[in-house]
Amino acid sequence: TLPIGILVSGRGSNMEAIAAAIEAGEVPARIQAVISDRPEARALELARERGLKAFCLAPGEYPSRQAYDLALATALKKEGVELVALAGFMRLLGREFLEQFPGAVINIHPALLPAFPGLNAQRQALEYGVKFSGCTVHFVDAGMDTGPIIAQAVVPVRNDDTPETLAARILAEEHRLYPRVIKWLAEGRVELRGRRVIVRS
Ligand code: GAR
Repeated sequence: TLPIGILVSGRGSNMEAIAAAIEAGEVPARIQAVISDRPEARALELARERGLKAFCLAPGEYPSRQAYDLALATALKKEGVELVALAGFMRLLGREFLEQFPGAVINIHPALLPAFPGLNAQRQALEYGVKFSGCTVHFVDAGMDTGPIIAQAVVPVRNDDTPETLAARILAEEHRLYPRVIKWLAEGRVELRGRRVIVRS
């Protein structure tokens, strides 16, 4: 099984979906640690309730972004993590971090990238007026939501959608897509060809 680490900042519903899929035997991975950059993250409580190792590393306690990134990478290495999954982790990771986990950091974003990167992606989609949105799981590079795309799921935008109703429709797809991608990675079926990601059947 693939040893994974999950980075969180808030609610933790994607962390829960991944943990549930692993517990159900659907994904050949094991969660070595759940780490938050915010001590009050609900995700930490939920992880502990599942018996997972979960702790906070607070950026304020480090002298620089580089020092924080290095501490985060060191903590994940210490837990034996080989794949890092960002699940609502609201910080950009620098090269110091990414160099420690080449090709092994993934993120989920609530839009069809490259549309609507960054914050409030669901609100951005509504304001732009697109008729479909969705979610994207991608490899993380040093940019903001710019890395190679592994998988996407599409949802319709409805006439009466608010950012909240659209976010809920997208979230349901996130919870299906993210465990599936981790399964593919754990099975060694994902190959990077330039910017294109091939998933072997
Ligand atoms: C999810 O919708 C995720 O896609 C989004 O934050 C939410 C976290 O929810 N991530 C981003 O916007 C990253 N730019 P969760 O904590 O319940 O998984």
